[in-house]
Amino acid sequence: MGLVSSVARPAFSASESPFSLGVASGDPWPDGAVIWTRLVRDALAPDGGMGALPIEVTWEVARDERMRDVVRSGVTLAMPELAHSVHVELRGLEPGRVYWYRFRAGAAESSTGRTRTAPAPNAAVPSLRFAAAACQHWMYGHWAAYRRMVDDDIDFVLHLGDYIYEAPSSSPAAVKQKVRDVPFDIPKSLSDYRRMHALYKSDPAIQAAHAAFPWIAIWDDHEVENDYTATRSQSRLALGALLQQRAAAYQAYWEHMPLRMAQRPLGPDALLYRRFAFGDLIDLIMLDERQYRSPLACPLQPPRPDRNHVVALDACPEAFEPARTMLGQDQELWLANCLAEPARARWVVIGQQLVFAPLLRKLGEKLGFATDGWDGYAAPHQRILDRIAARPNRDTLVLGGDIHAFIAADIPARRSDLGSPAIASHFVTGPLSSRLADHERLTAALPENPHVKFVDARRHGYTRCTLARDRALCEFRVADDVRDPDSSLATLAAFETEWGKPALRRL
Ligand SMILES: [Fe+2]
Repeated sequence: MGLVSSVARPAFSASESPFSLGVASGDPWPDGAVIWTRLVRDALAPDGGMGALPIEVTWEVARDERMRDVVRSGVTLAMPELAHSVHVELRGLEPGRVYWYRFRAGAAESSTGRTRTAPAPNAAVPSLRFAAAACQHWMYGHWAAYRRMVDDDIDFVLHLGDYIYEAPSSSPAAVKQKVRDVPFDIPKSLSDYRRMHALYKSDPAIQAAHAAFPWIAIWDDHEVENDYTATRSQSRLALGALLQQRAAAYQAYWEHMPLRMAQRPLGPDALLYRRFAFGDLIDLIMLDERQYRSPLACPLQPPRPDRNHVVALDACPEAFEPARTMLGQDQELWLANCLAEPARARWVVIGQQLVFAPLLRKLGEKLGFATDGWDGYAAPHQRILDRIAARPNRDTLVLGGDIHAFIAADIPARRSDLGSPAIASHFVTGPLSSRLADHERLTAALPENPHVKFVDARRHGYTRCTLARDRALCEFRVADDVRDPDSSLATLAAFETEWGKPALRRL
């Protein structure tokens, strides 16, 4: 039997669209980007209702929104083993330019997406704007922030993790805050994770934001399981079972994101840390802080789950052991090399999942730290701070997410001295729609964190950063009401920092 006879001729009529999960683009480079879609007949069915045969999909890229000036086109196969997702890596486009793209299967046509290639490697770029988003629990809010983001003039979106949430929270307070249902159980298998991603992608607001901008995404814990590390899960799965769950979760994540073939998982492993160049303005480094890290220090004892908790500074010497790793040996060495090279661009932007500045917490009369963050990995954290400090210029800006609060902080040179000179600026984006951190508790510790200039865990939204050659401006854009799909947005706070002299200034 030849190849042709094992390919399903798409029988879609114009009215029966298999493109209900939308289109996306991502990981822009100077002559292209990935364009993505996934074919489904029934998004929440185990295989999307698409059957077991590959399906022919044509794609085209144009220089105009009406798709008249088509500059690239091709045919590819949506493969059943990849949940009929399509990832096309475009080549040969002009740098620093907007393009539009769409897909066709049979007579059915997708909506038209817009993307933008990165500027040429040495191009003089006066400014760029990006949005950083994270933590979008389906149950606890609507995504008006994405709906409104579409009107922003931004070049790309950074997604810093918790794209999906594997589990609802069952506490009475959480149930009270529920805005919409997840109609199935906690995922374990590949088809479970696919269904969860399909649910999230079915929302028109997130589809609009994907169709409007290229996204550069990394994962955090909830794409697999809350607070998991390389080899441990909060439910204390045996290693083999955890690796199987990781393999399923990573696979479904890749299938649903505009990622390149180089990021495609092989079993429980996937190369997600990577680097991007935006002309001579931004050298962007994206880190993976889940896949390789040491187990949480000072774990809670069974039957309590092995998850994040706050411990007193003097009660957990394990967190300070030099052999601990957050990035794994290879990634840490790679990052060290990136930071040690002569500058490739005006700014180094590090996109990562966690709060990157030290963050002391109140623990009764004592001071403590959260075991799941960088503070639980003190030695590798200081090693990276030293690498940033050793750069000839103060040109580093670090983005983070994870703790469901907006934070602006100077990053001190030494973890042990929070008053030490700032070596970089740090912005933590708040949750798109996840449950908020404890605002009172976080702000109560502000006097102990003199480098932290702003904390707010009362609002949902994203962070919009504009980088010019001499300054960076970051604005926290928040929804008036996360329960309202049409909510308007406002700026909660805005901060500026100067290239060469990191010190946040509130505007
Ligand atoms: Fe989160």
